Amino acid sequence: MTKTTRTRNIVLTAVTMAAAVYASPGAAMMGGGCMMGCTSTTVIDPPRGAAFADPPTLPNLSMTPGVVEVNLEAKIAPVNVNGTTANLQTYNGFFPGPTIKVKKGDILKVHFKNSLPYSGVNDMGMPRDMTNLHTHGLHVSPAGNADNVLVHFPSGETFDYEYDLSLHRGGNLNFYHPHVHGNVAEQVWAGQAGALEVADEGTALSGYETHILVLKDITLSGGAPEAHTSADFMNGKEGDTMLVNGQVNPVLAMRPGQVQRWKIVNASNARFYKLSLGSHSLRVVGTDGGLLDKPYAQSTVLLSPGERVDVLVKASSTKGYYKLQALPYNRGAGDSANQQITLMTVNVTGSSLSQNLPAMVDPSATRLNVPANAVTRQITLSMGMGMMGGGSASINGIAFSDTEAYTIVSGRETYEVWEIYNHSMMDHPFHQHVNPAQVISISGGDSAYKSLYTTTPAWKDTVIVPAMGSVKLLVPVKDYGGTTVFHCHILEHEDMGMMGLWDIQ
Ligand code: C2O
Ligand code: CU
Ligand code: CU
Repeated sequence: MTKTTRTRNIVLTAVTMAAAVYASPGAAMMGGGCMMGCTSTTVIDPPRGAAFADPPTLPNLSMTPGVVEVNLEAKIAPVNVNGTTANLQTYNGFFPGPTIKVKKGDILKVHFKNSLPYSGVNDMGMPRDMTNLHTHGLHVSPAGNADNVLVHFPSGETFDYEYDLSLHRGGNLNFYHPHVHGNVAEQVWAGQAGALEVADEGTALSGYETHILVLKDITLSGGAPEAHTSADFMNGKEGDTMLVNGQVNPVLAMRPGQVQRWKIVNASNARFYKLSLGSHSLRVVGTDGGLLDKPYAQSTVLLSPGERVDVLVKASSTKGYYKLQALPYNRGAGDSANQQITLMTVNVTGSSLSQNLPAMVDPSATRLNVPANAVTRQITLSMGMGMMGGGSASINGIAFSDTEAYTIVSGRETYEVWEIYNHSMMDHPFHQHVNPAQVISISGGDSAYKSLYTTTPAWKDTVIVPAMGSVKLLVPVKDYGGTTVFHCHILEHEDMGMMGLWDIQ
């Protein structure tokens, strides 16, 4: 009872807060003059850019079969962003970071070097140079020198990560980025994000031309990524320039009738993309954690920060230019409710290539039933007013810090049902490390999203919990023990404390 009362108070606080934010001149300007509830849509349709290019692949330094060994260095480097040179925080000088490519069963060794030049602390009190590496989406150990986000190190240090992928399902696109609580948002915003592909082999998908699309937005100011404001922490920072693999509106060639496979990751801090390719269906064949049983044709696919989707696209038999757009979507903050953005252009050209779509993809993919002995937990996500006029964000009333965290203690090889409640006026993409889940139900939000993820055998590690809505997950707590985290993947919210510890014993 106490809990219900407290939660209700937080809801009221969140409403007041949202009203205050939208009434400030800065927030009104961010919305292009549109206040909340505004219906006019800004069409952002940049001229067609250069030829589409996949991010570069990190070279494998190992000669041993089954071992992939790479060097990865976090450093500042000049990058051309839409014609302007800016100093971004990169991996190996690339923006987005170079793709790490492995296959199921590999050992991945990452020789990591922190060459960020900063000194001092940010507004969260976190040393700005502190960083580390998280392999978002990998089912690997969270302990030792594997996907251990509790380890972090200052500038000048090196760290050798090693990940054993033998229990990872495979056939999915993952996402690497830093994970030091208190400076994740700024580092990812400034460029530290890359794709990590675990290949599938011998599936019906192997014959198609395949591309990786890293979606990332940014705003530049004075030759560097624009600094965060306190409103950015509350709302999640969105950029004014939307990039696919670092390019504005690149042109991807397809032959008439050709089928291509696109593996897409939303590497943005806070921007949601409601993807549409006009009259072309996006046929979803895989989600965060692996392949689906068969393709599911969608007219739009909503992708929140941290989510990935693997789609087949069959080009029209009619030559011409077709736009991949992000349609307006209201996440309860930011500009996307009033924007229609061209992200990329498909140029259907050349001689026709009539390729068939597969009937089946991964017949072993099934939806699990909820076991009768599953432990059920309630997780409530809240936003509120913090000290000194800043925002606060919490899980079950606790804002994550070095000394305090809402902690879930789970037993290995068990099943749990997580009921996640969003007591705020904006959507929160909920992400848990190490073990992907299946979505039992979603209340609120986008109906196509809900039906895709609650009726198919999709493995998810990031799921949108709609504003004032809820999500129920079936979480198989598998083989690996250790302490890891779950959090909102609007990275500013994670930095403000919307994160908890997950102690798997
Ligand atoms: Cu992509 Cu804990 O994060
Ligand atoms: Cu993660
Ligand atoms: Cu959030």
